[in-house]
Amino acid sequence: MSSYQVVLLPGDGIGPEIVGEAVRVLEKVTKPGAIQFSSQLLGGKAIDETGEPFPEVTRQAVLAADAVLLGAVGGPKWDKGPGHLRPEGGLLALRKALGVYANLRPVKAFPELIDASPLKADVAGAVDLLIVRELTGGVYFGERERGSNSEGERFARDTMLYTEPEIRRVVRRGFEIAQGRSKRLTSVDKANVLDSSRLWREIVEEMKGDYPDVQVEHVLVDACAMYLVTKPHYFDVVVTENLFGDILSDEAAVLTGSIGLLPSASLGDKSGLYEPIHGSAPDIAGQGIANPVGTILSAAMMLRYSLQMSEEASRIERAVAAALSEGARTKDIARPGEKVLSTKEMTEAILARL
Ligand code: IPM
Ligand code: MN
Repeated sequence: MSSYQVVLLPGDGIGPEIVGEAVRVLEKVTKPGAIQFSSQLLGGKAIDETGEPFPEVTRQAVLAADAVLLGAVGGPKWDKGPGHLRPEGGLLALRKALGVYANLRPVKAFPELIDASPLKADVAGAVDLLIVRELTGGVYFGERERGSNSEGERFARDTMLYTEPEIRRVVRRGFEIAQGRSKRLTSVDKANVLDSSRLWREIVEEMKGDYPDVQVEHVLVDACAMYLVTKPHYFDVVVTENLFGDILSDEAAVLTGSIGLLPSASLGDKSGLYEPIHGSAPDIAGQGIANPVGTILSAAMMLRYSLQMSEEASRIERAVAAALSEGARTKDIARPGEKVLSTKEMTEAILARL
């Protein structure tokens, strides 16, 4: 039997703990030998061991893999270096190398966790949206410069550049995903100020004729930020550029109660990269208390989108929902007085319901 090659990039902070838990779940839900795992360095640990955040060995391995499962990168130890030699620089280089231009971030309320949301229950309970974030362009990858002028005053410049093909391919994903959900697409931009946004909006308008079944609208990013907390039920599929998507997805994540719950899939035309949307949480690393759910649900997305195992993916998702509904809580989602599970115990609660 041929098996899928999955490269694990545990990374820094809580990354190794949560990726290890996701592997336990994957091993339980798939047939023996269906997936072969190998582990590579990325981020701060890679800097310590090789001098760079995205070593060539890692690049070769991920390019040859069927899918990549990532924990998180970064930490205070590596915060001083220049951009490309920081852990985050390695993550951006990884996304670029894999060409994963569409980052899918589903945000769905678990009914049992409504009380963990900062919103009123009737507002939070209705959250079920999916952000499609452009991931390999925009200001994250534009030309940048730091310098000083003749008076010795410092300046810094970042550039938000988008080309037509970069916009078209991610907007197309947005339309296709909307077709498979409630057929509503919200395109988020800042077209009242930015030229890159005006081009984005123009292209969405040109493309909508190809998707007559999808109802499209444009919302400015500042208004979107407000609507996400005042009427989140209003949104279904949201497509937006890289930086806006980064910010809005953190905002949307807390609606569900904890950013620790949320998975993501980053897709290109070939590769798939799967990671929880939270960071490396150095403050709680090594304590065994991190919430593994975001990574476990990312592993489910990997089964669905890259490894053609959608039934197994659904089984994981149902097991997570059952564990939560029966009261399994890590520290980030427990209310005062509730029993708090460790990272491993949370995984065991999920494994028991597979
Ligand atoms: C994310 C993270 C990254 C990003 C950082 C760590 C570079 O915040 O995946 O949302 O900004 O894309
Ligand atoms: Mn982010």
